[in-house]
Amino acid sequence: METRSQWGTRAGFILAAAGSAIGLGNIWRFPAVAYENGGGAFFIPYLFALLTAGIPLLIMEFTIGHKYRGSAPLSFSRMNKKAEWLGWWGALVAFVISTYYAVILAWAMSYTVFSINQSWGADTEGFLFNEYLQIVEVPGQVGSIVPGVLIPLIIVWAVVFVILFAGVRKGIEIANRIFLPLLVVLFLFIVIYALTLPGAIEGLNAFFQPDFEAIMSPDVWVAAYGQIFFSLSIAFAIMIAYSSYLPKRSDITNNAFIVGFGNSSFELLAGIGVFATLGFMAGQAGVGIDEVVAGGVGLAFVVFPQIINELPFLNGFIGILFFVSLVLAGLTSLISISEAYISALMDKFKITRTKAVLYGGGLSAILSLLYATQGGLFFLDAVDYFINQFGVAFIGLVEVVVVTWILRQVKDLQAHADEVSDIRLGAWWTISLSIITPIILGFMMVQLFVQNLL
Ligand code: PHE
Repeated sequence: METRSQWGTRAGFILAAAGSAIGLGNIWRFPAVAYENGGGAFFIPYLFALLTAGIPLLIMEFTIGHKYRGSAPLSFSRMNKKAEWLGWWGALVAFVISTYYAVILAWAMSYTVFSINQSWGADTEGFLFNEYLQIVEVPGQVGSIVPGVLIPLIIVWAVVFVILFAGVRKGIEIANRIFLPLLVVLFLFIVIYALTLPGAIEGLNAFFQPDFEAIMSPDVWVAAYGQIFFSLSIAFAIMIAYSSYLPKRSDITNNAFIVGFGNSSFELLAGIGVFATLGFMAGQAGVGIDEVVAGGVGLAFVVFPQIINELPFLNGFIGILFFVSLVLAGLTSLISISEAYISALMDKFKITRTKAVLYGGGLSAILSLLYATQGGLFFLDAVDYFINQFGVAFIGLVEVVVVTWILRQVKDLQAHADEVSDIRLGAWWTISLSIITPIILGFMMVQLFVQNLL
């Protein structure tokens, strides 16, 4: 009866879930968010968010997937017929993210090649916008497709398709078993190199300098919860799909702790690497760290190329390592976001994996062409802003309220998790899920609406 695919090994599942969590957000989002929200003091709300929302929700999603053995829509509909939409909502957001995440990976691929002889030149910002992306002046105007983006984009999708066609064990598991350890090794090398640079210590001091007053502000707590949600890929139908491929006997709670702490460790490592290099850059330019701190596209494609230009030795090599790391971190996340809706299509329409990949992934690939146009960056910014502001916390809030308060599933899920796990879930888990997370996310949503609508 049970024909659902399964992971080959426990490590395969953990690496795949960690591969989903460890993504661009760890490398280019976390360092800037931490710096802007209290520096060293940010670790207090951050750890609090990890322990009261991140890991508890991860355990909840792992348990739902494992117990109901389906993609997010199927699992929720088995929990309660009326809850299927919750899974589709997450899957839809995953689909939207996949359309632009692929494009950022394509840029990183191009920049890997540019790294070889730093062909971005001295004006890295002008190069990115005018020469590489060939942005058009009028926002909203699409213009034509930029060949320099199209070619790597086709490669990204080809790689993702090959991995997804091959299935859970032969595709996703093998890819993560190779890509994730490789990423950690490459990244460790970059961090060690960065620590030898002049100015590295100043960078780290700026990063870890605690501003305890900052954590009195609710905004900082909201930032911490936002980072944890995005970073752990929670509420996007991903972790439910991945855990539906676990064998019957799997230690769910332990796995969630490993993934949660593993992801945060990588985030910390990225913070150290990024700020050591920013310290070097500030020293070279004779300015304060504040002037060079950046996150997102600006950090990866404007500031980093500048830093690479100025490195004392191994410039090209470090450039390649950095952009390959971005590609690897992003690929394992893109595979997971794609699997979220592909598994949903397979379960719902009873179609083969090949067909689901062709239809679902194919549509995402076609839509991603929009961002590969001269006006693409404006769309990408708009969609990314919308998803980050409203997607992440909002679905998380609805999911947790529906599961705990409306469908009253906490007891059943706890019993299921306890049956297969070594660690017993106690009051910490139930209180985090049914009280702390809804209150903080609810507050976050009210604040967002007030900020955006007033
Ligand atoms: N968690 C990934 C990161 O940190 C991004 C991601 C978000 C992946 C949402 C899937 C879904 O970059």
